[in-house]
Amino acid sequence: MTLAARGWQVFAPEPATLAWVASVLPEARARLACAPRRHGGTWVPGVDLLPNDATGAVSCGPPLDGAALTTAQALFGPLPLHPAQLSATHPGYPRRDPSETEAAHRFRRLRHATHLDGLIPEGPDRRRHLREPHAWILGVALTEAEPDAAPLTVLDGSHRLIGQAFRAARPTPDTDLTDLYATIRRRAFDSCPRRALPLPPGGAVLLHRMTLHGVAPWAEGARADPDGRIIAYVRPLLPDLDRWLSAA
Ligand SMILES: [Fe+2]
Repeated sequence: MTLAARGWQVFAPEPATLAWVASVLPEARARLACAPRRHGGTWVPGVDLLPNDATGAVSCGPPLDGAALTTAQALFGPLPLHPAQLSATHPGYPRRDPSETEAAHRFRRLRHATHLDGLIPEGPDRRRHLREPHAWILGVALTEAEPDAAPLTVLDGSHRLIGQAFRAARPTPDTDLTDLYATIRRRAFDSCPRRALPLPPGGAVLLHRMTLHGVAPWAEGARADPDGRIIAYVRPLLPDLDRWLSAA
């Protein structure tokens, strides 16, 4: 099944991607070791944490390569990569932070904190605008983790619901999308099957920019690398909102 049909596509490890993983992993471990954690120490968000260049290379290592990147770059043409997010989860994820409301914690545990990247909540009322339109989201697993060690989850086909609603709304970066987004996300929970997408090291997942996704809790007893379940995400921006809203 393809990215266009379901809003996500998984790719098996291949030599080029494994070589990239081997080259970036030491730096990723070092950066994560001193990065702030959230959710009772069980999650490092790690936004922009990997010091890679526009090809994905760290220091003199190889560029990010493989079928997932080729598929992604075919969508809007080659886009420069920004420093990758390093999302690391640990046993017990998600514990509740003192600052977190019970409702927010419950949403994280039961609904996997499912969200659309780029719709940043702002201000005391957490109003959401499309401030960071990403072209696509490509995740590469850096470490070993059992399938139930806090895998990425998606709402299968949710990109179509978001696409239809947002194209009709024709938002600008200043359009308040909070209520529309909440409505569509509720509809997606009711109508789109949730799928867990565990990855072996070097395995990759490509998410459509409009796919709702989250992270499942770490199952009791699930095992993983001592530094946790680490996924590197690259999410280049596509500032042209007409292209972002297109059916591509
Ligand atoms: Fe996300």
